[in-house]
This record gives sequence, structure tokens and C-alpha cells, in this order.
Amino acid sequence: MLPENVLLTNDPATVLAQFLAQKKYSKVIVLVDEHTKTACYPTIEKSLPAHSVVTIQSGEERKNLTTCETIWQAMTDEKLDRHAAMIVLGGGVLGDMGGFCASTYKRGIDFILIPTTLLAQADASVGGKLGIDFNNFKNHIGVFKQPALTLLYSGFLKTLPRNELRSGFAEVVKHALISDKKLWDEIRANDLEHQNWDRLIEESVRFKCSVIEKDPFEKNLRKILNTGHTVGHAIESYFLSSGNKILHGEAIAAGLIAEGWIAGRKKLLDEKLLSEIAAYILKIFGKLPLPENALPDIAALALQDKKNKGNVVLGALQEGIGKAVWDIEISQEEIIESLRFYQSY
Ligand SMILES: NC(=O)c1ccc[n+]([C@@H]2O[C@H](COP(=O)([O-])OP(=O)(O)OC[C@H]3O[C@@H](n4cnc5c(N)ncnc54)[C@H](O)[C@@H]3O)[C@@H](O)[C@H]2O)c1
Ligand SMILES: [Zn+2]
Repeated sequence: MLPENVLLTNDPATVLAQFLAQKKYSKVIVLVDEHTKTACYPTIEKSLPAHSVVTIQSGEERKNLTTCETIWQAMTDEKLDRHAAMIVLGGGVLGDMGGFCASTYKRGIDFILIPTTLLAQADASVGGKLGIDFNNFKNHIGVFKQPALTLLYSGFLKTLPRNELRSGFAEVVKHALISDKKLWDEIRANDLEHQNWDRLIEESVRFKCSVIEKDPFEKNLRKILNTGHTVGHAIESYFLSSGNKILHGEAIAAGLIAEGWIAGRKKLLDEKLLSEIAAYILKIFGKLPLPENALPDIAALALQDKKNKGNVVLGALQEGIGKAVWDIEISQEEIIESLRFYQSY
């Protein structure tokens, strides 16, 4: 079962119209970026009561205070009171930032998330984490708040660029690897173009919600959602600092393979399963170029992870398929070796 405020639908316009009719908001404002305005807004436009639209430029580099000021100003110009609502129609950038703006405007008005990327549908739009980047710190300023409604419609994925779809797919793969062997078998039977998105989004959201329900503030179990992210984030930072930015999911895909190797070293994953995982992920994502002399630097970047304690890298690792463990000490040498495995597989 999905939580009450999360609906998966193939008719978002009707569901949204019904929800809004019932809520009787004083005003509705819709937040889009230039891509979701043309690709997604027409799908819901006719079902909306009188509303205004705020369009901001897409991109992580716009997820900052300056853009928030533009959004708050638009809300103020529209004279939104505390009974108004914001509809956020976009990917994770818009969801995090729009939800943050709504949650802080006049101490908080309702917001409705309509995620339009796979990453946002399967991951970012549930869990209540909202916020923006600050200087060089990612998601540095923010709050926890749940949307009034999250509307999931896989039809929006049709216009999503393939590299963005693939990036979000890494999180779906991660969810399957740590939650459900059967789901993993279903996924690996198909390439990216032939996945059953409705089922994968539903299973991803259901799993993420079940974890968060047990550990909302990431004291223990929720840490398993960071599987693939200890090495993955380090790889992402490495590419960012070498001026060669890659998408988050591309780094996480590589991280899942590397951490799979570390899980193998720690007797948590057998060799056959590791090969199965590595082969499938590489088939979909290809291989990132990681020069041998960069491997110690990448390992050192993992020391900066927020989840560490002191100078020890603590990560979550999958245990077989369908389970994960957390707060596992990972040495620099293990990370370097795991990257060598990735390189040479
Ligand atoms: N809150 C959380 O729990 C959580 C979890 C994971 C990630 N995030 C955040 O999510 C953000 C990344 O989100 P993202 O990957 O969705 O990227 P994004 O929001 O930048 O969207 C990617 C690109 O796709 C475009 N786009 C979106 N939907 C489209 C559609 N249907 N058709 C065509 N183009 C479309 C966007 O305009 C953008 O150019 C990061 O800022 C990250 O911090 C948050
Ligand atoms: Zn991630």
C-alpha cells in the first residue's frame, strides 16, 4: 500500500481536479521550469481552477536562495494567503525547492508534488526532505515537511531525455537490490526502454516509505537507502571537481558495482550475484573512465561523506539481494580495490 497522500494514476488531470475541488484552496499557484511548462503543464492545465504560473529556469545551479526569492516574490505578488496552495510540476530540483518555498511562505502553505522525472517519482518526491543548495553545500538549507498530495504519473516520462531517465533508473535499481530479489529479476530481464514504469515507481515508493516510516530521521534503518552512495558520491564529486559533471544516477550506478564488490569482500554478497549486478548495470550505463592515479583521490573523497563518524568511512552495503546493512566500516584500500574491480570488469 502507498501512503494516503501518494497516488499513482494514469489520469492526473481528473485526480488533481477532484482533490482541488475538495480542498477549496483560496488560490493555486503552479511552479514549472521551461521544460515541464511545455512537456507536462498542458496535461493538467485544463483541470485547474483559475491559477497563476511561475516559470523558473531548470538546473541544479538554480536550486538556491536567489531563485527562492523569485518564487516568494511571485507568491507575494499573487497575494497568496495561508489557505492557498502551490502545485510543483517538475523534477527533484523543483520539488525540493518549491516544497521548501511553500513550507516557509507565511510559515507554510500546502503544496502538491507532481514529479515529472523518474528520479523524482521513484525517490525524491517521498520522504519529506525539502531544501536548496547553499554556496557549495548541497541541500544545506531545508526542512522536513510532507506534501498535501503527491501525484505519480508515469506518462510524463515519455518526454524525459534518455540520460535523465537512465539516471533515475539507478535509484530504482538500488531500491530493488536492497528490497526484493523478484523485482531485481524482473528489472534485469529488460533493458531501459522496456521497463514497467508504473510497477517500478510504485514498488520504489512503497519500499522507501516503509523504510522511512520505521526510521524517519535516519538514525538507523533509513541509512540503507544510501547503498551505492558512499562510493557513488565520491565518484560524483570527483567528476564535478575535474570539470566534467556527470548525472547523479550515473555515479550511483558505478557506486552500486563498487560497493557490491566491497560487500563481496565482506562475505555479504557471493561472486555470482556480483557478476550479475555488474553485468546488467554496465550494459545499461556503460563505464565511467576512472584513471588509476585518481583512485586514491576518489577514496579520500568518501571520507567527506556526512554519514561518517570521525575519520572512518561508514557505509550501507547490500547483503545478498533484497537486504542491506548499515554503518559498515569501509577502508580506503577497499574503496580503491573496488574501483579497480569496476575498471577492469
Ligand atoms: N528530497 C529528496 O529526498 C531527494 C532525493 C533525491 C534527489 N533529490 C534532489 O533531486 C534533484 C535532482 O532531481 P532530477 O534528477 O529530477 O533533476 P531535475 O529536476 O533537474 O530535472 C532534470 C531535467 O529534466 C527536465 N524535465 C523534468 N521533467 C521532464 C519531463 N517530463 N520531460 C522533459 N523534461 C523534463 C528538467 O527541466 C531538467 O532539465 C537534486 O537536486 C537532488 O538533490 C532530492
Ligand atoms: Zn541518490
